[in-house]
Amino acid sequence: MHRIPYGRNGSSENRRVILLVHGLLNQAEHFLIAGMYNGSLAYLLADNEFDVWLANCRGTNHSRQHISLSSEDPMFWNFSWHEIGKYDLPAKIDYILEKTKKRKIFYAGYSQGGTSFYVMCTERPEYQDKIILASLMAPSAFFPETKKIPLANFFSTNHEEIMELVDDYSLYCFPSIKYSLGEVLMSLCVDSLFDNQCYIFLLETTGAKPENINPYMLPLWFRFSPKVAAKQIVHYLQLIYSGTFRKFDYGTTKNLQIYGQSKPPDYPVGNITAPIAFYSSLGDFMAEYSDIQQMCSRILSCERSFLLRSKHFSHFDFILSNKVEKKLNVPMLRFMQRYDEDGTTKIKNKLVE
Ligand SMILES: *[C@@H]1O[C@H](CO)[C@@H](O)[C@H](O)[C@H]1NC(C)=O
Ligand SMILES: *[C@@H]1O[C@H](CO)[C@@H](O)[C@H](O)[C@H]1NC(C)=O
Ligand SMILES: *[C@@H]1O[C@H](CO)[C@@H](O)[C@H](O)[C@H]1NC(C)=O
Ligand SMILES: *[C@@H]1O[C@H](CO)[C@@H](O)[C@H](O)[C@H]1NC(C)=O
Ligand SMILES: *[C@@H]1O[C@H](CO)[C@@H](O)[C@H](O)[C@H]1NC(C)=O
Repeated sequence: MHRIPYGRNGSSENRRVILLVHGLLNQAEHFLIAGMYNGSLAYLLADNEFDVWLANCRGTNHSRQHISLSSEDPMFWNFSWHEIGKYDLPAKIDYILEKTKKRKIFYAGYSQGGTSFYVMCTERPEYQDKIILASLMAPSAFFPETKKIPLANFFSTNHEEIMELVDDYSLYCFPSIKYSLGEVLMSLCVDSLFDNQCYIFLLETTGAKPENINPYMLPLWFRFSPKVAAKQIVHYLQLIYSGTFRKFDYGTTKNLQIYGQSKPPDYPVGNITAPIAFYSSLGDFMAEYSDIQQMCSRILSCERSFLLRSKHFSHFDFILSNKVEKKLNVPMLRFMQRYDEDGTTKIKNKLVE
């Protein structure tokens, strides 16, 4: 983890503590690249009396030290966001509570940082009492509409074949043990390194809208994109395919061994009790509004569902947009400030905006 204990105004007593958890193909730096004066969430929180802890999930550049396995060993990469939520988030929370002598912390997760939060709440329910409020930005779980995108449909329909390829060729790490996706993509743009059009084009292929992109962030976005485990991606493809938020599908035989049933069990999201504020956008095809509404309606502790009504605010804009401070980060901060540092709430009503 990285930590920003206080911001430009110096230290003060009783700062609220928050853990920020990045998305797939991101690491801690992605919460910083918008810059101190341009609305980076981490700096904004530090300047507003938060003690900010930034997670680096396993496999990212800063999280490769395994007790017995080298990160060059394919077995190092035998994990999905399930293990991140079940083992790593609780370990991070315990560490933060011990260091800060607090009883509870705030949580904010983007994309996979939301998915793994759901896993923690259902697999390790005792950790929910340690959360004052979780702000989940574009968290995906059910993917109700994603199959309508041809490429997503193709890959999710063929998720079994993809996993076979992974096993047969030991492609446990995406895109490879040697290179990160960022390095691969940057090499595509190498002839035009100072021409951001190349980066913008690459992002547009994923649905990002060029008019939102702050061009000076792009090389940073790619540079800090780490490798991920193939299983993290395949697990998401399985969700897209089944439309069900459930554990990793190993195929009937192994499912019977591991889970005692032929299909993987669902994560019981209806049992989640941690207070959650959801942030979604109409322009996001990876974590759709209907997905997030479905989650909010199943969870009694859904305290807010905040919708960005712009069709031009894509999944990546939660980090990359030049409007992220005004549109998202400040409203999110203001909502967190309604909660006391010890976790008692000043509001009781469910907000849907
Ligand atoms: C803020 O973003 C603009 C581009 O939108 C950039 O020119 C400027 O250098 C950034 N400022 C800081 C302090 O990061
Ligand atoms: C920082 O301190 C200055 C002056 O002391 C004050 O005007 C400003 O609002 C403070 N900023 C924050 C974010 O608390
Ligand atoms: C990967 O981990 C899973 C679950 O922890 C385990 O069942 C499986 O055997 C492991 N795969 C290999 C090849 O060891
Ligand atoms: C990972 O760290 C190495 C060495 O510190 C650095 O060269 C590389 O650019 C980093 N990659 C990412 C994705 O942060
Ligand atoms: C979810 O809650 C129900 C009702 O309280 C309980 O019976 C069930 O065991 C819980 N499921 C899990 C997996 O914790």
